[in-house]
Amino acid sequence: MAEIRNIVILTGAGISAESGIDTFRAEGGLWEQHRVEDVATPEGFARDPDLVLRFYDMRREAIQTKQPNPAHDALARLDEHWEGNLLIVTQNVDDLHERAGAKRVLHMHGTHLNAWCTACDVKNPWTGTLADRPPCPDCGQSALRPDVVWFGEMPYEMERIYAALRTADLFVSIGTSGAVYPAAGFVRDARSLGAHTLELNLDRSQGSGWFDESRQGRASELVPEWVDTLLDS
Ligand code: OAD
Repeated sequence: MAEIRNIVILTGAGISAESGIDTFRAEGGLWEQHRVEDVATPEGFARDPDLVLRFYDMRREAIQTKQPNPAHDALARLDEHWEGNLLIVTQNVDDLHERAGAKRVLHMHGTHLNAWCTACDVKNPWTGTLADRPPCPDCGQSALRPDVVWFGEMPYEMERIYAALRTADLFVSIGTSGAVYPAAGFVRDARSLGAHTLELNLDRSQGSGWFDESRQGRASELVPEWVDTLLDS
């Protein structure tokens, strides 16, 4: 592994599952309990803002009671010690990577802990509720929405992600089903540009066939093992 210098890691809901945060597509997961069209699209928000704001208020409150698990801790350790380039691209809207201590993290689907004012376009850190229509701290209007990317909206910082993928020697996908683009396509982009590709997931995902290597198991076990091997190499 001596030739590896630039690493891109993609994480999904599976890395936070053992912290007690529901994944989306598991049996009984979030998308069985709620219709995507109702709670995760701009059209759903326009139709029933109370429902959408209450849904995200519940999730924002819940994530603040959860703790990082050994998989988040291991990635934070890698971030601290890896001297080459590293980018942890997460689809997750929780802050467990940061609370574990990781710094080089990019939230391509936004974050629960920000409120975005649709009147003045300013984003502010937010831990409270939005369904009660609090005023924007900047402009005073009651026009705040969660700073999360809904279906039909553009994920954040795609240029920075593709720039990192272009120079990646290693692309690792952790705890994601490979069902949602553009993230699901990163493995093919990275591989066609010469990166080695590795998947760490509970079971085989929709994208497993695209990886050079796919390991099945719990993130809390696979990720620390992989990080230890990488840092010792
Ligand atoms: P999914 O719920 O689609 O997939 C989670 C993946 O994690 C599955 O493949 C599980 O097998 C795996 N998994 C579950 N527990 C695990 C564990 N303990 N260790 C390792 N793997 C485990 O979640 P995502 O792929 O993150 O987007 O979903 C992608 C996007 O779809 C989300 O960001 C969200 C959602 O709709 C938006 O809301 C825009």
